[in-house]
Amino acid sequence: MRKQVLFVCLGNICRSPSAEAIFRDAIALSGLDVAHDSAGTSGWHKGEPPYGPMQDAALTRGFAMADLRSRQVRKSDFDDFDVIVAMDKSNLHDLIAMRPSSQCRANVVLMGDYLDDPIEKGSDVPDPYYTRDFDATLDMLSRAMSNFIATL
Ligand code: 4NP
Repeated sequence: MRKQVLFVCLGNICRSPSAEAIFRDAIALSGLDVAHDSAGTSGWHKGEPPYGPMQDAALTRGFAMADLRSRQVRKSDFDDFDVIVAMDKSNLHDLIAMRPSSQCRANVVLMGDYLDDPIEKGSDVPDPYYTRDFDATLDMLSRAMSNFIATL
């Protein structure tokens, strides 16, 4: 069965759509056939495209994501996806709390656990909605993504 990956943050307008955009470009290049989506633990931005300044910073690096739309995580995601990737430990905590059962299909993991640097490993992906440092977020996502893809 085709693998399915879901990236999750709080608003689904900054970090998780960026992660999905970086991921889909990387898998297109690698030839891997993996389905992907992103979602927010909140529904605050439901139906909205990614945040404008986030899109601009991503596009500077060639990652287009104007087609993506925010949605909230739903319970069925835990059976529809193989891996759910949380952008920070707060998202991870919220996901584990809403997981319908420990028997469900999805493995819930932390993006920062795929970083190479032992000091940086396990970090939260910084939320640029607050930090305003969109490049630092894209840098960390790019550093973690190839190790994550290698696990699929
Ligand atoms: P994200 O960033 O979780 O990376 O999408 C945020 C976007 C919006 C808000 C919080 C975080 N907000 O409070 O509206």
